[in-house]
Amino acid sequence: MTDIFQFIKGLPKAELHLHIEGSLEPEMMFDMAHRNKVDIPFRTVDDVRSAYNFTNLQDFLDIYYAGANVLIEEEDFRDLAIAYFDRAAQDGVTHAEIFFDPQTHTDRGIPFDVVINGLLAGMAEAKTKHHISSKLILCFLRHLDENAAFKTFKTAEPWFDRIAGVGLDSSEMGHPPAKFARVFSAAGDAGLKRVAHAGEEGPPDYVHQALDLLHIDRLDHGNRALEDAHLMTRLAREAMTLTVCPLSNHKLRVVDDLSDHPLDRMLANGLRATINSDDPAYFGGYIGENYRAVAAARGLSRTVLAALARNSFLGSFLDDEEITENLKKLDSFLKNQ
Ligand code: ADE
Ligand code: ZN
Repeated sequence: MTDIFQFIKGLPKAELHLHIEGSLEPEMMFDMAHRNKVDIPFRTVDDVRSAYNFTNLQDFLDIYYAGANVLIEEEDFRDLAIAYFDRAAQDGVTHAEIFFDPQTHTDRGIPFDVVINGLLAGMAEAKTKHHISSKLILCFLRHLDENAAFKTFKTAEPWFDRIAGVGLDSSEMGHPPAKFARVFSAAGDAGLKRVAHAGEEGPPDYVHQALDLLHIDRLDHGNRALEDAHLMTRLAREAMTLTVCPLSNHKLRVVDDLSDHPLDRMLANGLRATINSDDPAYFGGYIGENYRAVAAARGLSRTVLAALARNSFLGSFLDDEEITENLKKLDSFLKNQ
């Protein structure tokens, strides 16, 4: 296995599904709670880790939103982003498209500008320090209503040249994509890319809605699309990228065991699947660990792993020239193996 782990580490790859708030490690949570004088319901780092015993999306989200309360100042958001990029650099990431949840912060009185300025500062540092390029995707919280999403959209307007796209996350069941059709249409009119979490816990119909009503450019998770053969054919025909998150799927019981993970079945059905970490501080590993764990559990070959890395660039929102540049790096790595 060691050889394949070396191969995974060196493989140039993009990360397309990463919630920056989900990269808040317990140690950093404690440091920020201390420096910002925020109360957290844990006494030790071990207490925090033992609270991560969720078995579904909602139980996880309750802890994830509570953890985000320690993020107050611009430097907190910058430190959070830098810590993620330092980790991603060790895993061979050359490009990352990161989600942020502004409503989680603005609803606590943290100005939007504080959040985005901090994240952009971290992204700029990642470029100089690690040569990692990155883009921001603003996610609307789907458990809130569409008016709240529109309000966030308006607040973000002066920053549209620094935001690649909009996304949809949080509690999926009972909050179908249709609820956000108008704000996604406005985002499309503003020239922003569109992505949405669908088919993580929600039924295949939510994936149909994301395609037909939100006009998504990329599908986050999409596991349950496998229950609908016509939908799978459509996703393959449209070369839709799926941002799959193996360790998240296991932790949130989207799959009972990683050995049952459908990643290679997705590829075999012509889907453009990619590997991502989702919320690495909560789900037991960053992108490299996601590659390693699913490779070990499913016995994935180097050829399959290289195809997954290739898909990550093809599915990114980089321009054609940047994609070609990254694919060249990938090909030269593969040639030297
Ligand atoms: N927010 C952070 N992680 C998420 C996930 N896996 N699904 C939905 N919303 C999220
Ligand atoms: Zn996610």
